[in-house]
Amino acid sequence: MVLVLGIESSCDETAAALVDGERRIVAQRIASQDEEHAPFGGVVPEIAARAHAERLAPMIEGVLADAGVKLADLDAIAATAGPGLIGGVMVGLVSAKALAMASGVPLIAVNHLEGHALSPRLADEHLEFPYALLLVSGGHCQILQVDGVGQYRRLATTIDDALGEAFDKTAKILGLGFPGGPAVERIAKEGDAKVVPLPRPMVGSGEPHFSFAGLKSAVLRAHESGKYEAPDIAASFQQAAIDCVVDRLTIALAEMDAVKTLVVAGGVAANASVRGALEAVADKRGLRFTAPPPKLCTDNAAMIAWAGIERLGLDGFAPDPLDISARPRWPL
Ligand code: KG4
Ligand code: ZN
Repeated sequence: MVLVLGIESSCDETAAALVDGERRIVAQRIASQDEEHAPFGGVVPEIAARAHAERLAPMIEGVLADAGVKLADLDAIAATAGPGLIGGVMVGLVSAKALAMASGVPLIAVNHLEGHALSPRLADEHLEFPYALLLVSGGHCQILQVDGVGQYRRLATTIDDALGEAFDKTAKILGLGFPGGPAVERIAKEGDAKVVPLPRPMVGSGEPHFSFAGLKSAVLRAHESGKYEAPDIAASFQQAAIDCVVDRLTIALAEMDAVKTLVVAGGVAANASVRGALEAVADKRGLRFTAPPPKLCTDNAAMIAWAGIERLGLDGFAPDPLDISARPRWPL
């Protein structure tokens, strides 16, 4: 049975996980840095890199102990090599290189976005290529047709903010703290989405791209007007964002071929209202809908280990060289 160690350190979660070829997460540990970054209202790269450096080695030791395995039992060590905050990415990648060198186990340098893109296949064994993917996180907002491992056709991206970033900025405006997505979702439940008139940027445009900067500015103006309650602003923002996503996705789906499933991944995929709206889009078009459980949507190491397993299964698989670079930018 294939067994792969995954390492994730590209943003503010330090994570290690062991995943096997039967999609079992054999062991996993994750440490969030929310407390360290909260006073600054966002992730501070230097603080993140230092926290990863302190936590990662004992965490890897911990997951190996949890599973009762040794490095030599592994078929590969998969680590995020980008895109992300470069200090953190380097901590994870260099750790993986050192372990690979010491043990002789193959190294796999994983694109973090590929981790998100393939994570639905870890959760759903029936998910086959090609599928339509909405990838929505704090740093990324894309629509892709996933044709296979390493085969991604990008149909849409954002011209300014990512969707998760829009949630985080809305939370900041409303004084809900950091990270903002879950807090906005929580208070939106007590609000009325019809109360605050907000724009739907790009809706109606023939190209499926996103834009959320104007929506964020409108949220700021609504808040500063003093006319609205925070839950109503949160609910109205969330609905406006969902309307944008549904419209953009509908345009992109018309440009895809042979796709039978609609999939959402990335941190914002943890949002129940977003998931519900996407399920309705899928229903309408006769597509199956699937989304990983919320814990696999936000950053984690199981999805990185799984991407490693997918790569191992490719014909002509070759390990990555020990001099491979960490990449702050790395489009899929
Ligand atoms: O995938 P992820 O953990 O990290 C990145 O690769 O960016 O995504 C984090 C993003 C943050 O912007 C966070 O606010 C958002 O996902 N998020 C949510 C929810 N949970 C996390 N946004 C809306 N509703 C949620 N429940
Ligand atoms: Zn991510």
